Amino acid sequence: MTLRAVVRGVGHYLPSRVVENAEFEATVETTDEWIRSRSGIERRHFAADGETTSQMAIHAANAALADAAMTADQIDAIIVATSTPDFTFPSVATMVQAGIGCTKGFAYDIQAVCAGFVFALTSANGLILSGQANRVLVIGAETFSRIMDWSDRSTCVLFGDGAGALILEGQVGQGTTADRGILASDLHSDGRYRDILYVDGGVSSTGTTGYLRMQGNQVFRLAVEKLAETGHAALGKIGLTPDDVDWIVPHQANLRIISATAQRMQIPMERVVVTVQDHGNTSAASIPLALSVGKARGQIKEGDLLVTEAIGGGMAWGSVILRW
Ligand code: UT7
Repeated sequence: MTLRAVVRGVGHYLPSRVVENAEFEATVETTDEWIRSRSGIERRHFAADGETTSQMAIHAANAALADAAMTADQIDAIIVATSTPDFTFPSVATMVQAGIGCTKGFAYDIQAVCAGFVFALTSANGLILSGQANRVLVIGAETFSRIMDWSDRSTCVLFGDGAGALILEGQVGQGTTADRGILASDLHSDGRYRDILYVDGGVSSTGTTGYLRMQGNQVFRLAVEKLAETGHAALGKIGLTPDDVDWIVPHQANLRIISATAQRMQIPMERVVVTVQDHGNTSAASIPLALSVGKARGQIKEGDLLVTEAIGGGMAWGSVILRW
């Protein structure tokens, strides 16, 4: 008998403002065709003026609670993965705790940029397996539109806003890979890569929020190499192979990265959940958004074996194997 962190509910929120690629043609030297062909992105959602990361996270959390048929007071811990909090502090997670009406347990944020949700899932699994918490609300929520340099065409067309949430609950399994829940994870970071993807401002440096800076083609090359590597490593830890995988649910940054990674993992695109065309890159929110949309589309079903994998600023990357 083995304790497993099993998915009980999932939900998401996307702000109502949808921006099509063509809108950028008026402000920077770009085309819908370039954005589509280089990234696979067709549109993205942007938060309304005054709409914050915590507000989006609360919407996603309430959707996940409804999906799980749970109330907020049944949650023991809340983890929010974000790089775009409302304030330097308090954490977005404690704002979510108050916003959903949860008056017990504990809440904190995790910052691993686009890999944040994979790090948050792994942390939630640790809380459950160590007995610290039995029901953990794990959220990815971002307002990357607030850290865009709108004159930089190489970044401003790529990102979007949104939030996704998952509720994990400790349940006893058989101790085999047939169990539902988190089965393995594999995390990495290498701070020597800081200059290829970063924000050029912050509390203790400039005292400003700063703007996202990226050397896209270098990030691209590293992403394809590291994502396939971490996916294989996590599967290897539990003796599974790509043939056992029902769905890759990757970080949604670029369709060409997603398909090159799937190819390296020898998994056909028919078994990959793709939402990048509609959401753009929503950083830590992209995987929970894809899980929620993938379930709503009827792609992800109970018992399916999922590989989630992501890479982002730091660089930080990793993967989680999850039986839905
Ligand atoms: O989520 C965190 C991780 N982030 C990512 O995974 C993003 C990784 N990188 C990428 O997705 C891709 O590298 C991009 C989509 C950012 C760029 O695609 P690329 O095929 O790597 O293009 P590139 O950076 O090599 O640039 C090709 C050309 C350049 O022009 P020159 O120097 O060849 O004349 C750019 O100036 O495309 C130009 N360019 C644009 N042209 C039209 C860059 N942005 C644009 C644009 N519209 N928006």
